[in-house]
Amino acid sequence: MQLDNSTVYLNGTFLPLSEAKVSVMDRGFLFGDGVYEVIPVYGGQPLRLAEHLARLANSLAAIRMQPPLTAEDWSAIFARLIQGGHDQSIYLQITRGAAPKRDHAIPPDIEPTVFAMCTPIAPLPTEGIRAVTVTDIRWLRCDIKAITLLANVLLKQEAIDAGTTEAVLIRDGFAVEGAASNLFALIDGTLVTPPKGRELLPGVTRDLVLELALEHGVPAAERPIALTELKTAREIWLTSSTREIMPVIELDGAPVGTGAPGALWERVQAYYRAYKETLRGDS
Ligand code: PDD
Repeated sequence: MQLDNSTVYLNGTFLPLSEAKVSVMDRGFLFGDGVYEVIPVYGGQPLRLAEHLARLANSLAAIRMQPPLTAEDWSAIFARLIQGGHDQSIYLQITRGAAPKRDHAIPPDIEPTVFAMCTPIAPLPTEGIRAVTVTDIRWLRCDIKAITLLANVLLKQEAIDAGTTEAVLIRDGFAVEGAASNLFALIDGTLVTPPKGRELLPGVTRDLVLELALEHGVPAAERPIALTELKTAREIWLTSSTREIMPVIELDGAPVGTGAPGALWERVQAYYRAYKETLRGDS
């Protein structure tokens, strides 16, 4: 396997990716016992860093871990990992660490494993994406950004096997989010996104999109979206830190709206782009 050999951070040390190694006794490896963040970087500046670190703190608290580093520590690490001004994303992961033996119970006094790397953001599709609805088979704490992503992996692969890009997850007749993204739909002239709760990840992009929409007078609401409403929505978008706002042009083989990215998407993604440019301007 050919690894790109960029510098990464592991447990206090900066080293080439190919030399970064963790123990097979690491609870991240054995149990998926850890949390992560993905932070987009534009013009060398992390976007909404405070919000990402606040969500990280919530994820850590939810899995009974202390924050291993302060916001200042993270900023210093990111400053060394970010290379140049191109669009990139920081991936950071904290696991509970390596214990002497494999035991489900949380061991006292073990050192967490802390890892961070920076990778280029792939170019965004310009034509919109296709998506399929699938049954949400995940657990009941989807608000925790846990590294335990087997269900998300399988659901995403279902979407790919169907010749589409993303899965829209349906729980009890309601659309909650994508396999790796949050959901917006334009329903009866209102931009709707499901409310935060334990069924979905509180996306930083989601919050920013909602904020930009409201700031520019777009009628918006946080409320559950029934699958039946989604099927007739005028526009559907999926948002994430690395994919921004993806317009869905086809759902389950049927066109969404006109079958092309919608007028509201054009508007709101322009607000989003302008917001990104302010970061570039600061660098
Ligand atoms: N995933 N919902 C899920 C299940 C996600 O995995 C993600 C992001 C989001 C969007 O959150 P944000 O806007 O904060 O990126 C929603 C990241 C990008 C990933 O796993 O790579």
